[in-house]
Amino acid sequence: MDAAQTHAQGLGEAETVWFKLQMLAKQDDPMPALVRMGQKYGGCIRINLRDERIFFLSDPELFKQVLVKRYDCYGKYFDGLRPIFGNSMITVDGALWQKIRMPQQAAFQPKMYTEYMPYLLASVNERSDRWAELAKTGEPVNLLEETWSLAANMICKALFDRDVPFNPHLIFSAVKSYTDVLNHKKVRLKKVKGEWTEVPSDDDAATAIGHWLSVPPMVLGADPRDYRERTLLTMMREAAADPSVPEFDERQVMDEMKQYLWAGTETTALTLTWCFYLLSLYPEVADRIRAEGEAVYGDRVPTFEDMQALTYTRAVLQETMRLYPPIWSLIRQATGEDELDGNKVEPGDKIVLCPYIVHHDPRIWDEPEKFDPGRFEPEKARARDKYAYLPFGAGKRACVGGALSLIENTLALTQLLRRFRLEYVGPVPAQIAATVTLTPKGGKLPFRILPLS
Ligand code: HEM
Repeated sequence: MDAAQTHAQGLGEAETVWFKLQMLAKQDDPMPALVRMGQKYGGCIRINLRDERIFFLSDPELFKQVLVKRYDCYGKYFDGLRPIFGNSMITVDGALWQKIRMPQQAAFQPKMYTEYMPYLLASVNERSDRWAELAKTGEPVNLLEETWSLAANMICKALFDRDVPFNPHLIFSAVKSYTDVLNHKKVRLKKVKGEWTEVPSDDDAATAIGHWLSVPPMVLGADPRDYRERTLLTMMREAAADPSVPEFDERQVMDEMKQYLWAGTETTALTLTWCFYLLSLYPEVADRIRAEGEAVYGDRVPTFEDMQALTYTRAVLQETMRLYPPIWSLIRQATGEDELDGNKVEPGDKIVLCPYIVHHDPRIWDEPEKFDPGRFEPEKARARDKYAYLPFGAGKRACVGGALSLIENTLALTQLLRRFRLEYVGPVPAQIAATVTLTPKGGKLPFRILPLS
C-alpha cells in the first residue's frame, strides 16, 4: 500500500479537494463564477478549511513559482484518481519520476512523429468512413464519444502498435462516470480485482473502475498490428526487462498504459470536440481550415511536415484550448515551506492552479470571450507572458504529449473538415461541467454530421 492509500485508510472516508472546489463553484455555470472570483479576490486566494488549507492561484507569476522556480517544494497530488492512472509517471515525483520518464522520452521526439503519421492517418480514415455512414442518416451523435474513440485509436495504433481491442463505447462511459469526480463526495479504500485501490464511495464508480482495469491487459494481449520494432510499448517493455531499472517492471508497463489511455485520449478528444463546437458557430473559420489544407497538401497524402505548415489550423486549436483548456486546473501538495503572495505555505497545503481563469483574464487578452485564432500568430504569441497560456502545464512536469496531440488534432481537423460539415444541435452556449477535465455537461455534445457538398 503506498503513502496515499495509507493516508486514505487512516482517514476512513475523506472529502476530496475536487468536492471542496465544487462548493466554490456551485453555480449552474461554474466557470464564469470562477473567473469573477479570481478577479474579485486576486491571484492567490487562501481558503482555510477545518482540516486543511487550499491556495487557489490564478496569476501567471505564481504559476511560474510553483511549477518552475520553487518546483522542489511542490509534489503531485491525485485525489481519488489513482485507479485511473495507477502509479504512472504523471502521478509520481522526484527520482522515481525521472527513472520512469526516461525510457519513454524517446517516443515523443519529432523523428517518431514522422513514423506515427501513417497510423494517425489510418485512424482518421476509419473515423471518416464511419462518419460517411452517419452522414447518410443525419442522426445526431455525441461528438465527444466520436472524438474519444478516434483519440484512443490513434494512441493504440501509433504508440502501442495495436488496433483498439476494447469496446470504446463501454470504456468511454466508464471513464466518464469515474472522472466526474465532483459527483464523488468521498473516496475510500476498496479491493478491486484483488488490489487495494482508492475509489469514490459510490457503486457506479467501482463498476467503472473494473472496466477500466481490464483495458491494459486487453491491449497487451492483442496481436501487434505491424510488429514494429520501436514503439512506446516496446520501449516500456525493454525498460521492464532491464535489471538496472528495477522500478520499471511489468506492473509499471500496465500503469503507464492506463495513463496514456486516459491522458492521451480524454484531453485530445475534448479539444477536438470543443473545436468543432466553435467551428459550428464560426463556419467561416472552418472554410479557412479547408482552404489551408487544399493549399498545403491538396490531394496528396499529408505528411508530418504538412502538419507544421498548417499554421492557421494549429492556431484554431490553440485558441480552442485557451477558451476551453481541457485541464482547467492543476493540483499540487506542498512538500516544503514557501511563500505565495505573502502567505506562508506549509507542507501538506494543497495548491490549485487555475489556467482557466488566466486564459479568460481581460488584463491579458483583449475581449477574452471572443474566439479569435489570430491571437496565436507567432509574433503575438511571443509578446505574451509564457505563463499566461498553460494548456499543457509548464516546467519539468509539462505534458509529454502536447506536441503529439497538436499533430493528431491538426490532422483530424484538416482531413475531416474536407469531407464533412458538422452542425451543433444543442443549446447555445453549450454548458460546461468542470470535472477533472473541462467537459460538456453530462459528457455529451450533440452534432449532426453532414456531407460537404
Ligand atoms: C490536448 C491534449 C492534451 C492536454 C490539454 C494535456 C494536458 C496536460 C497537462 C496540463 C499536464 C500537466 C499536469 C500537471 O502538471 O499536473 C499533462 C501531463 C501529461 N500528459 Fe498531457 N495533455 C494532452 C495530451 C496528451 C497526450 C496525447 C499524451 C500522450 C500520448 C499525454 C500524456 C501526458 C503525460 C504522460 C503527462 C505527465 C508528464 C509528467 O508528469 O512527466 N498528454 N498533460
